[in-house]
Amino acid sequence: MKVTVVGAGAVGASCAEYIAIKDFCSEVVLLDIKEGYAEGKAMDLMQTASLNGFDTKITGTTGDYTKTAGSDIVVITSGIPRKPGMTREELIGINAGIVRTVSENLINHSPKAIMIVVSNPMDTMTYLVHKTTSLPKNRIIGMGGALDSARFKYRLAEALNAPISDIDGMVIGGHSDTGMVPLTRLATRNSIPVTKFMSEKRLDQVKEDTKVGGATLTKLLGTSAWYAPGAAVSALVQAIACDQKKMFPCSTYLEGEYGLNDICIGAPVILGRNGVERVVEMELTKDELDHMHTSAEGVSKTNGLLNL
Ligand code: 2OP
Repeated sequence: MKVTVVGAGAVGASCAEYIAIKDFCSEVVLLDIKEGYAEGKAMDLMQTASLNGFDTKITGTTGDYTKTAGSDIVVITSGIPRKPGMTREELIGINAGIVRTVSENLINHSPKAIMIVVSNPMDTMTYLVHKTTSLPKNRIIGMGGALDSARFKYRLAEALNAPISDIDGMVIGGHSDTGMVPLTRLATRNSIPVTKFMSEKRLDQVKEDTKVGGATLTKLLGTSAWYAPGAAVSALVQAIACDQKKMFPCSTYLEGEYGLNDICIGAPVILGRNGVERVVEMELTKDELDHMHTSAEGVSKTNGLLNL
């Protein structure tokens, strides 16, 4: 199993590190345009191999896509991250051009690859890849919901003073501060609805903290986060590489599901060796569905800024 990660910045390098530590791939290629950067990150990571006990071979390249040839899974993290006070949507101008070129280069060298899009605004970048490559929809996956759900579980565990392993929960909708739809009604602690343990007010706070999860970190760090995004990508890569048939909310192209069409937005999917093997349609309340549709309007508006 060969995986290419484009962008050797903090998210790309963390993603490569988590993939390697789990040791389910033979090879990870890091590619970046900054001279020597990917090579340096790859070498540094390889020098952790004997300490962390993995055999995955990590290599780096400065812009040479021939080194990525024959990848089974490719991850696009390239582009600029947001600065404090910025929304993900504001990155579209620069990132759309980068994602378009990177995705074309990747597909030219790995025509069978499954593509995971991380660059922001992520739902729109996923849609861009859908519209500009010939890839079938099951092979294009946007990473957002897996990360937002991890942040949701973190906030729930914090509010309940419970271990995270007790918590289950999911965030659907767009990967934006206003577009996320944390499904509080369905979140549980060991199968018991969290609504049994928390006031509505506290749960609303959890919801709000989840939605601005990325913005809160950007403010603290001066740039966007990388550990949880890297871990979320590595979980998606593992689900595909190991054919786990695991369910994650991911940005996926919808054709009628949840009453939405011609949009990439977060919905639960089953991930396996064929990428998105199924979109799971669950029953939502009118309120949840309304939120999903408002979120979709926001994503469509950003999609409208693309020069397709
Ligand atoms: C985040 O939410 C990178 O969009 C990503 O941290």
